[in-house]
Amino acid sequence: MLVNAKEIIKSAYKNKQVIFHININNLEWTKQTLLAANIEKKPIILGVSPSAAKYFGGYSVCYSIVKSLIKELRIKIPVCLHLDHGSYDDCIKAIKAKFNSIMFDGSRLPFEKNLEISKKLIEICKKKNISIECEIGRIGGNEDGIVSDVSYTKLNEAKAFKEIGIDMLAVGIGNIHGEYPKDWKGLNFSLLSQLNDELKMPLVLHGGSGISDDDLKKCINLGISKININTELQIANAKAIEKFVKNNNIMDNKNYNPRNLYKLSNEAIYHKVREILTKF
Ligand code: 13P
Repeated sequence: MLVNAKEIIKSAYKNKQVIFHININNLEWTKQTLLAANIEKKPIILGVSPSAAKYFGGYSVCYSIVKSLIKELRIKIPVCLHLDHGSYDDCIKAIKAKFNSIMFDGSRLPFEKNLEISKKLIEICKKKNISIECEIGRIGGNEDGIVSDVSYTKLNEAKAFKEIGIDMLAVGIGNIHGEYPKDWKGLNFSLLSQLNDELKMPLVLHGGSGISDDDLKKCINLGISKININTELQIANAKAIEKFVKNNNIMDNKNYNPRNLYKLSNEAIYHKVREILTKF
């Protein structure tokens, strides 16, 4: 069942639980993620970045794939199809393609501009019953080739975003996309705790790959209701393909057939998603 993120996130927040957002990168990824979530009976948010949407062939291709897989594979859990880090134009494209959740990332814009565009999108989303996530402060690291420095979420700015009616807020608390460097300073839990006390609304942690389970647990207790994971699965996928290629002669037994070539990677994604979903 395709749902927006509002209800599942609200109830996760109320019960100090978390919904995982798994970035999908192709058909195989989407299928394995859905199967894993379904067997674990956990609601799932499928995140699609603008560049992943382009790779799929467009937003409507993603929508059709997800919708058809849910039907054909008899997926029974709530599934949310969510645009990850979209500009205003990306958000409009995703909405037109029937995504039921969007993230507007105005974190590189001046605060007032970020707020103004977010307001405009909230109006559209409310009319169409679509959930919306916005970002205050900046998540550092490298996401789809866009490199950013960390900038921490400011409480007064976050409050202004709550007032305009967003459904979930992505916070910058030292988290970064991609692999964490050896000299990483860690998460700023006192900032997260302050944001949680003042905002009392579902918060989102980007850059979930590579954070210890203990730290993730602390985050969930401090209002993080959605954790985004991409890199961890990209690494599992790449390692599985590498292993297959190293251990198999491509020309033997038709190993050049993509269904052979991707076998280990499909299994790796399936097991990794199950592992992630059953962490807490
Ligand atoms: P990672 O790639 O670090 O897991 O982050 C994913 C993410 O935050 C997507 O928005």
